[in-house]
Amino acid sequence: MIIKKEEYSLKSLHDTTTLHNGVKMPWFGLGVYKVQEGEEALQSVKSAIKAGYRSIDTAALYENEDSVGQAIKESGVPREELFITTKVWNSDQRNDSVLEAFETSLVKLGLDYVDLYLVHWPVKGEYKQTWKVLEKLYKDGRIRAIGVSNFNIHHLEDLMSMAEIKPMVNQVELHPLLAQPELRDFCRKQEIQIEAWAPLGQGRLLEHPVLKEIAASHNKSTAQIILRWDLQNEIVTIPKSVKESRIIENGNIFDFVLSESDMEKINALNENKRYGADPDNFNF
Ligand SMILES: NC(=O)c1ccc[n+]([C@@H]2O[C@H](COP(=O)([O-])OP(=O)(O)OC[C@H]3O[C@@H](n4cnc5c(N)ncnc54)[C@H](OP(=O)(O)O)[C@@H]3O)[C@@H](O)[C@H]2O)c1
Repeated sequence: MIIKKEEYSLKSLHDTTTLHNGVKMPWFGLGVYKVQEGEEALQSVKSAIKAGYRSIDTAALYENEDSVGQAIKESGVPREELFITTKVWNSDQRNDSVLEAFETSLVKLGLDYVDLYLVHWPVKGEYKQTWKVLEKLYKDGRIRAIGVSNFNIHHLEDLMSMAEIKPMVNQVELHPLLAQPELRDFCRKQEIQIEAWAPLGQGRLLEHPVLKEIAASHNKSTAQIILRWDLQNEIVTIPKSVKESRIIENGNIFDFVLSESDMEKINALNENKRYGADPDNFNF
């Protein structure tokens, strides 16, 4: 089995990738899409931080920024050790209210800066203007890194044709059935860090026979195999769970390595299958 040097160096949930502006972002984090504001969001974020997670991915759309903020405070972990992402929603892009949306998110989170602020979707005719606002907030020191989400190659090219600052991250749907090889290659060359949303296919990939077989051979769960595949592919990953046992399980992927042959078997599963909306054809 050939193991690349960097795979040995991934030791814990605290390990980071360095974005093109030098900011360090954890490879692994907790997603909180569809996590209820209140006790559910509070407990899942607190459980994750207790388990060693240092990165939390929320969005204005998720309507749980208040609870995420409360969990951050109650966690007892110093703010500078955490990496908090939120996103500007489409209606705020259309209404020219990106700045207000950012301020609202900050107030809800109870923070005075976020680590990463993302353009949630490439809203046609709007995202370039949105990007200018993000660039200004970044230059003013209100955000440590700025990025996009659901951008295809052509969206990135279009954005970069006018951008003063290149996005540091592109968060997209990405899992073994939607491996996005061209987009990953493009982003690698542009030094834009790729981040996977729905890494577990929103829970639908966990019974996949090939993944189950690899999982059995390592005495690990299917979820752990997928998340380890992300890391070995240098993909930032943010699985969501509201169950403490699964939050712990998902983060427990630093004590084994997928072989080249395991990686190839998983790479071969790609069928360009989306569970979420298509960035070239969405109606929200
Ligand atoms: N930028 C975007 O447009 C966008 C879109 C979607 C998502 N996201 C982000 O990406 C994050 C992750 O994506 P996602 O939440 O859609 O899907 P996901 O992380 O692929 O899957 C979450 C589902 O898998 C289940 N699950 C998690 N760990 C498990 C385990 N070890 N065993 C069995 N089931 C498990 C969860 O159930 P339980 O909670 O019941 O454990 C939940 O139903 C989101 O939370 C959000 O932060 C971003």
